[in-house]
Amino acid sequence: MNRLTSVLGLDLPLLQAGMGGIAGPDLCAAVSGGGAGGALALYKEPPQRVRELVRAVVASTSRPFGVNIIPEVTGPAGCRAQLRAALDELPANAFVTSFGLPDADAAHDVVRSGRVLVVQVGTLRDAQAALRLGAGVLVLQGTEAGGHLLGELPAARLLRETRARYPDAVLAVAGGVATGSDLTRVLGQGADGAMAGTLFVPAVESAAHPYYKQRVVDAAADDTVVTTRFDIGWPARPHRVLHNPLTGTAPRHPATFIATTGAGGGRWPVPRYSAAVPVAETVGRIEEMAMYCGRSCARVAGQYPAAVLVERFRRPYEAVGRTHVTSTEGGSWKKHSSR
Ligand SMILES: Cc1cc2nc3c(=O)[nH]c(=O)nc-3n(C[C@H](O)[C@H](O)[C@H](O)COP(=O)(O)O)c2cc1C
Repeated sequence: MNRLTSVLGLDLPLLQAGMGGIAGPDLCAAVSGGGAGGALALYKEPPQRVRELVRAVVASTSRPFGVNIIPEVTGPAGCRAQLRAALDELPANAFVTSFGLPDADAAHDVVRSGRVLVVQVGTLRDAQAALRLGAGVLVLQGTEAGGHLLGELPAARLLRETRARYPDAVLAVAGGVATGSDLTRVLGQGADGAMAGTLFVPAVESAAHPYYKQRVVDAAADDTVVTTRFDIGWPARPHRVLHNPLTGTAPRHPATFIATTGAGGGRWPVPRYSAAVPVAETVGRIEEMAMYCGRSCARVAGQYPAAVLVERFRRPYEAVGRTHVTSTEGGSWKKHSSR
């Protein structure tokens, strides 16, 4: 029995990362429909829009899925307003994933509602704090991960240290997982499962811009860089992105508008160095925008339906289960034969 699948009611111990602008109802429902844990990104969505988005997922799947909050972006009041709206609409088997620590009131709202609180952390100290807040699952983010970074340790080391301290905690790894063999590797290192983001950026159901999708498919791990450049709208946190004309040693240009994008039914200008990703409706200098991407891009092969991507994890994962059962059976057979 796998602890992550048991706690969240999944077929596979794989979670899709909430990804602002990219992981809408279509991606979330497709991932959950495939047997993994989809996540609906709430990012900066206002409460009324949160309700509409959650209803759209509920209309498409009855499998467990998560809603994803980013407390440091919304602030405590905004986070609780999003949660109130989401919790009103969420089925009982849904869960909440938080990027970084939520405050005690937000955590309490989730736990009191009976939904599992999944908290992504990047340090052992935050792992401890998340468990104190009532998290049922910890996602341990390594520095290989795409998007904003919560710590400074590679995933394997953070996992080793956290597992040593909390042998009974349910732990998933984020960063470096895009294939079934990546998943079996982290299970072998002591994780209960994994979270993947980059893998799903080019998925058919992802709302990412086609140029961005293709760049993720084409990228090697060293085409990603950690920078603090895209800080407008989400300041002071390093992030791993695909290199582009604004990263590296390029001088900082004025933050004039370089694109327009669609969100919440309206159109908005995008300044240079915005944290916003290019989505299907974005028009302008796409190649200068923040294209979050993890080192796992090296193993992201194409633009496939999310259910196909999820299904590819099944056989390697089940093979690990069979090996485990076979060796247990082998052990008991030996005991019999030696009697
Ligand atoms: C395009 C992109 C957007 C992301 N946006 C979010 C987000 O809105 N909320 C969140 O919890 N994590 C977000 N993340 C970070 C993921 O939770 C996770 O740490 C990361 O995807 C794991 O590494 P991987 O991308 O190599 O799989 C994002 C990651 C990517 C690649």
